[in-house]
Amino acid sequence: MSQPGSFLQINRVHLSFGHTIALDDISFDVRQDEIRAIIGPNGAGKTSLLNCISGFYRPQEGHILFDEHDLTQTPTHEIAKVGVARTFQNIALYTGLSTLDNLMAARHIHMKQPSLASALYWGPARREEVKNRRIVEEIIDFLEIAHIRNAVVGALPYGLRKRVELGRALALEPKVLLLDEPMAGMNVEEKEDMARFILDIHERRGIPIILIEHDMGLVMDISDRVVVLDFGIKIADGTPDAIKADENVIRAYLGEA
Ligand SMILES: Nc1ncnc2c1ncn2[C@@H]1O[C@H](COP(=O)(O)OP(=O)(O)O)[C@@H](O)[C@H]1O
Ligand SMILES: [Mg+2]
Repeated sequence: MSQPGSFLQINRVHLSFGHTIALDDISFDVRQDEIRAIIGPNGAGKTSLLNCISGFYRPQEGHILFDEHDLTQTPTHEIAKVGVARTFQNIALYTGLSTLDNLMAARHIHMKQPSLASALYWGPARREEVKNRRIVEEIIDFLEIAHIRNAVVGALPYGLRKRVELGRALALEPKVLLLDEPMAGMNVEEKEDMARFILDIHERRGIPIILIEHDMGLVMDISDRVVVLDFGIKIADGTPDAIKADENVIRAYLGEA
């Protein structure tokens, strides 16, 4: 079933809520070496699709194949462990904790030593803590958020919170990264920074990224292939140039004032 070269495969996924069909027979694949964008008007089903990949929603039909797993059958709490990390359209962080603590919390899924053991047996638990700390410090440097490492996240400006959320996803050391409108609500400069981070992550870590984004210029600049959804239906799938020239897309989306 899985095609050579494809890293993640969405296979005939159907999701409905009562009479609302959020995803209607959706199929596409994501290769290891690409940034794959999902675009479409509000309500098109973009977030629902990410929710199916990350196990928040269970599609009624279809399969999502990733690294030997069918994510539609994988318990939700296992999905981060198999290597899927995401950010949310509405930022989801521990608002009362610092940047550092939010990133460290993400490392807990990798900690083999339970916390009681950490108190009692400082040997292996201590080594693990040092390793987690090093990984988190590298991410803080990389995302240029050292100046807010001890700041309470809830008090940070929106653009920085978005960056912390990206950091938290990276702290999971994912094999694939799902980003739901990471640049929404940002000014031009913040958007450019975020685009640069996304490209850097993709290059340095060599992981595929699935990106939902409304800023069409940005999407066309940084993605390799684009899926277009409209009312739960996939209306186009191709390179940015092909998508820009696609009549269905122009009608459904780009032509929208
Ligand atoms: N939990 C839910 N319960 C009921 N309807 C939902 C739920 N999640 C999404 N939907 C519906 O599915 C459709 C697609 O929504 P969504 O995936 O959020 O679109 P997008 O992210 O493209 O704006 C919408 O009609 C939305 O109302
Ligand atoms: Mg959405």
